[in-house]
Amino acid sequence: MKNLEWGKMSFSYTKTDYIVYSTFKDGKWTPAQLSSDFNIALSAYAGVLHYGSSCFEGMKAFRGVDGKVRLFRPEENAKRMIRSAKFLDLASPSIEQFVDMCVMCVKANAEYIPPYETTASLYLRPLLIGSNPQLGIRSSAESTFIVMASPVGTYSGDKILVPGTAVIARNHDRAAPNGSGSYKIGANYAQSLHPYNLAHNQGYRELLFTDALTHKYIEEFGSSNFFAIKGNTYITPDSDSVLPSITNASLRTVAKDLGMNVEMRQIPVTELAEVDEVNSCGTAVVITPICRIDDKVRLEDETPCHVYKFTDECGVKSRALYDQIIGIQKGTLEDRFGWVLFVDC
Ligand code: PLP
Ligand code: COI
Repeated sequence: MKNLEWGKMSFSYTKTDYIVYSTFKDGKWTPAQLSSDFNIALSAYAGVLHYGSSCFEGMKAFRGVDGKVRLFRPEENAKRMIRSAKFLDLASPSIEQFVDMCVMCVKANAEYIPPYETTASLYLRPLLIGSNPQLGIRSSAESTFIVMASPVGTYSGDKILVPGTAVIARNHDRAAPNGSGSYKIGANYAQSLHPYNLAHNQGYRELLFTDALTHKYIEEFGSSNFFAIKGNTYITPDSDSVLPSITNASLRTVAKDLGMNVEMRQIPVTELAEVDEVNSCGTAVVITPICRIDDKVRLEDETPCHVYKFTDECGVKSRALYDQIIGIQKGTLEDRFGWVLFVDC
């Protein structure tokens, strides 16, 4: 194992040894190849550089209490990438090819899988881009699939489960109805960068988007899904323009298993006044509690029109859900839903 400062890691890039890549050309994929050169050669005319034909995934490999390495639900990421690629009309790897290349990447970078005792993990970033030279606006005929890995700590840079603030930005939309919101494509993130900068410059950790049609209902954070706890009920938005988070789906299963009610439905912003615990959830953020949400008419405004306050510490129910997910990922709890793929390294 490399001698890195595992305990001090945040969600940022650390150089590892290998990436894995394969290219789709003339109707077939080239064999997956390891490369220690992280610079990829692309034509300046590649579709991804002009028309944004890019989708990606995020998942984590964990070193378990038993020393074994586990990937969490990689097939779900594979299925989601296939969906995103279909939306972009890009050739995508099969589920098997996707998972095999992720496993290959974990094995090749095994020395960067953080020790069990830390809260760090090895983050995998599978990326699919349109890579042939083109000028006209059309889907790329060739694609390149790359899996890379970087050890990461908490997304917020804080200790785990330390609450942060969020702001609702009603004058910046993440995704249109009938648009691309439910696909994990690069373009969804591109349009969130400017409002994120505005929010971060005002000291907010997260940006919470509402539905683009009415701006009345909660959609999701720019980096993750939204869920709240109200009594014994887990509530999360039901919307066609929200990314179907694998963490959120897993949390809903665990919540039911713990005897909680689960509601997936429209959540009016005003209902924030009635909930007990609010969190963001996703691979990178895991569960990150939100202690305050400021509602602004315009993100650029100094004063919010409404302030919603929640607990200053992670709520009891959210903590219980966190413990279950991390326990399964790190092998301290039984994998009772069959979510874990062991990687022999
Ligand atoms: N929503 C957005 C916009 C995201 O970028 C992510 C991260 O992948 C999620 C939700 C959470 O999805 P998952 O739990 O599959 O990582
Ligand atoms: C993930 O959680 O894997 C993501 O892709 C979110 C991104 C903001 C890092």
